[in-house]
Amino acid sequence: MLLRHFLSLRDLSPEELKRIIERASELKSMRRRGDRHRPLIGKTLAMIFEKSSTRTRVSFEAGMAQLGGNALFLSPRDTQLGRGEPIEDTARVISRMVDAVMIRTFAHATLERFAAHSCVPVINGLSDDVHPCQLLADLQTYREHRGDIRGRTVAWIGDGNNMCHSWINAAALLDFKLKIACPPGYEPDQRFVDAAAEHVEILRDPHEAARGADLVTTDVWASMGQEEEQAKRSAAFSSYRVDSKLMSEAAPDALFMHCLPAHRGEEVTADVIDGPQSVVWDEAENRLHAQKALLEFLLNASA
Ligand code: CP
Ligand code: NVA
Repeated sequence: MLLRHFLSLRDLSPEELKRIIERASELKSMRRRGDRHRPLIGKTLAMIFEKSSTRTRVSFEAGMAQLGGNALFLSPRDTQLGRGEPIEDTARVISRMVDAVMIRTFAHATLERFAAHSCVPVINGLSDDVHPCQLLADLQTYREHRGDIRGRTVAWIGDGNNMCHSWINAAALLDFKLKIACPPGYEPDQRFVDAAAEHVEILRDPHEAARGADLVTTDVWASMGQEEEQAKRSAAFSSYRVDSKLMSEAAPDALFMHCLPAHRGEEVTADVIDGPQSVVWDEAENRLHAQKALLEFLLNASA
């Protein structure tokens, strides 16, 4: 069987991405019905977290248990990684003992180095570059609420960060338009923009980006690892808050998404994130279903 990794959405073809999203909704219905579905009995997922997590950890751990397998939580603090064992050696060793590895880390190159020395699938649970597991859940959520995203317009408001990069990748794969509003100096990495050029527009004015959009989405102003830039970033992003005025520029049935955790009163106001257009709790729940579909796909276990 061909070894597949999931370091970026770009590791999937558009057809594979659509199939995983559809399967995620099927697995959700199966769980709601109480069906027993255990294709991963005897399988183990190792999870290496170099950054904090609530959703990613719980969804992978619960997902593996529901599919009949196990998940191991590993942090650099309690493993030899924290004492300097090379990532390549760690990859060789861990991948001989488990069936898949999920990593949340800083530099994307760490994931690539691990994957290059792993004999089992490696999943990106967030890097400084991208957060593809979140996009699986977000795309599933859009489809469940509004149908096909092809030809629609998504507005990204705020930092050109890992989530923004994953939305750019999604726009290219599923053929929708992404309008990004960000302050100068906080644009997404040009590599991502260039690879999706005809799907992406970069603007300064958040109102222009939101105008007529089918979905408005944002993320924190300071990501994990940027804590010391918080004050500088708060000043730079102060006019990039998603509030009810900004939402009123979007299509009347526009959805609001946020990967969470959110800071009410910073990147989004409480009335928006807790309001009727917000689907953030569905997004969070769908992490579970979407990653179960991903695990089935990577471990060739959907039968
Ligand atoms: N959205 C997301 O990845 O959340 P966690 O950081 O809690 O895993
Ligand atoms: N951009 C955020 C996403 C958290 C899920 C971060 O990297 O911290």
